[in-house]
Amino acid sequence: MTGTAAPVTAAPASDRTAVPVTQAQPDWARSNPEMNTFISDLMAQMTLKEKIGQLTLLTSNWESTGPTMRDSYKEDIRSGRVGGIFNAYTAAYTAELQRLAVDETRLKIPLLFGYDVIHGHRTIFPISLGEAASWDLAAIEQAARLSAVEASAEGIHWTFSPMVDIARDPRWGRISEGAGEDVHLGSKIAAARVRGYQGDDLAATDTVVATAKHFAAYGAAQAGRDYHTVDISERTLRDVYLPPFKAAVDAGVGSFMTSFNEVDGIPASGSRYLLTDILRDQWGFDGFVVTDYTSINEMVPHGYSKDLKQSGEQALNAGVDMDMQGAVYMDHLAQSVSEGKVDQAAIDRAVRRILEMKYRLGLFEAPYRYSNVERQEATIYRPDILEAARDVARKSMVLLKNEGGALPLASTAQSIAVIGPLADSKEDMIGSWSAAGDRSTRPVTILQGIRERAASGVNIGYAKGASYAYGDAGKDDGFAEALALAQKSDVIIAAMGEKWDMTGEAASRTSLDLPGNQQALLERLVATGKPVILVMLSGRPNSIGWADENVPAILHAWYPGTMGGHAVADVLFGDYNPSGKLPVTFPRNVGQVPIHYDMKNTGRPIELGADNAKYVSRYLNTPNTPLYRFGHGLSYTSFGYSPATLSTASMTAGGSLTASATITNTGKVAGEEVVQLYVRDLVGSVTRPVQELKGFEKVTLAPGESRTVTFTLRPEDLAFTRADMSHGWEPGEFQLWIAPVSGAAASVPVGFTITE
Ligand code: BGC
Repeated sequence: MTGTAAPVTAAPASDRTAVPVTQAQPDWARSNPEMNTFISDLMAQMTLKEKIGQLTLLTSNWESTGPTMRDSYKEDIRSGRVGGIFNAYTAAYTAELQRLAVDETRLKIPLLFGYDVIHGHRTIFPISLGEAASWDLAAIEQAARLSAVEASAEGIHWTFSPMVDIARDPRWGRISEGAGEDVHLGSKIAAARVRGYQGDDLAATDTVVATAKHFAAYGAAQAGRDYHTVDISERTLRDVYLPPFKAAVDAGVGSFMTSFNEVDGIPASGSRYLLTDILRDQWGFDGFVVTDYTSINEMVPHGYSKDLKQSGEQALNAGVDMDMQGAVYMDHLAQSVSEGKVDQAAIDRAVRRILEMKYRLGLFEAPYRYSNVERQEATIYRPDILEAARDVARKSMVLLKNEGGALPLASTAQSIAVIGPLADSKEDMIGSWSAAGDRSTRPVTILQGIRERAASGVNIGYAKGASYAYGDAGKDDGFAEALALAQKSDVIIAAMGEKWDMTGEAASRTSLDLPGNQQALLERLVATGKPVILVMLSGRPNSIGWADENVPAILHAWYPGTMGGHAVADVLFGDYNPSGKLPVTFPRNVGQVPIHYDMKNTGRPIELGADNAKYVSRYLNTPNTPLYRFGHGLSYTSFGYSPATLSTASMTAGGSLTASATITNTGKVAGEEVVQLYVRDLVGSVTRPVQELKGFEKVTLAPGESRTVTFTLRPEDLAFTRADMSHGWEPGEFQLWIAPVSGAAASVPVGFTITE
């Protein structure tokens, strides 16, 4: 591709800044001399102000995802003070703004359009945590691919996704945006999403640049309170929170976003350690780094910068290329250069990275190539995209409990009561961070899905019955209507959970219980003696222990997206056999948090004591075990696992072993099973988790069918941050499980060793 920068009038000599002729460059850039020459020529013409403009990203006034700093974004574009705009979409609007940059600025450098396309653009897929519950990498990649197809058709070049923060605290509302608690699953999903968004060719107009966010350790916010302090060990940072980011780099992610939090006393947007030492020097990341929303400014209240000028210097010197919405670079960076607080070379490096991305997207050649009204009209809400959203939604659902075959619904049920605040609520179907998704007309509710699916003649009744509003706890206004309906129905579908905005950003909770008066209604419904099926809509693990004890069937449907109601009906009626498994542990109550399957054993594990023994690591009032384990999820069929076998019981450096088990569908219907491989490193130079997921495979089996699943393990798969802080494996003894769920009791382990 050739760049065609339009002729420009030269900037006054005093304004021009030197452009380094040689810079450390990634391979793809070195091998593109045409691009390098183009960008060098362009940069040679740029004033310092124009360069700083390329490092500035502002929101349009279409949507607000944080505090608004500048209303004058159009004027800022015209004056070359902005390199990118977010929260602006549609072919027409992006073209309108692009015109301001291309027609009215001196250098005609096109804008980059970013947006939070997190789980769909117009057609909304299940929330990211829900998608993760599918453990289906192909489906997850496809969801990202189709999201990119829709978003790019509305002029978007760049998505602020995937969110790859490991999250182990369900109080934190943003747990809904990621892939859950696990390092291995999270890393695989991070890579799948990057591949999906970016496709094979960034220059293709139906792909978008992906962003790995939020770098780093945002999910470890103290007490699950959003934006709160993070104070974790270097080892935990490296072994738990960083690997999904590294996986995104290895998958070729184009950009990184910093996080709001501090890590060990340094706000992430000012952390040279994270943004340069690790990201650039150790991992070789060659894209650009954007901050999170005003997070440079926030280094002042963090107490890390005395004023905005200093925070801008700290951010740029740490390795931040682009300032999202803070206008700190815009307002202060030129002065910092003149005072010698910031190196011109550092600014040039950042500018080059942004220009490279614009070049790779083909924007210099054709600035409007993504803003195409016909393509937009032919693409958004395309039937195949809607169908894919339905498919991913049903794959994401987790059957938590199914006693006595309560599900699928019996064909003899002649009357179904659909009850609850989430039963017929369109806006709740698509969850938070749902981009340009329509929340008022398109989403298919659970009631609608059931009505359309039920056989003619089956009576479907509906009552909202309860409320999820915090203030409504204690009220019972709708109970009588709901109970009357329940009494005259054969089965009750209770659709309960959390309002869509109770998870997501700035949506932390100190309780994981059903909010409002839902629990009280659920208890009254169960007391009718009618079979109750609980369908949970939520973006976090909830403590639903009472329901687990008293309700025969529980289906966790997350926020399933635009086609969610159809997907729920597919599962309830048995048209789709559920196959989701939890990507996160469900605690019994909030007091167990943080609880995750790969905890350490402690010196006094509970197994050392008899029931109720004192002086072991336990609670007085709650078992140590969670309500539902990581990896848990039932099916309408059953699966048998043979004992695991190994190709060899010992491996050495450079070697490998295979572990196999035969899985049999022992039930009566076809089904999919996520087969999970766990390993425990028994003794290390530092203590090791009781289990770590090291592989998984989703298999489809007809009734009676068996399949042998084989995993390959190499010593490197068992690497961690050792006592001396080096990364690698250690010789020793290991245990291995091939199992349907985490937990030492899920299958019989086999042992192996690694020798030097
Ligand atoms: C969020 C980011 C998001 C950004 C832009 C921030 O508040 O933390 O995840 O990408 O806003 O909307």
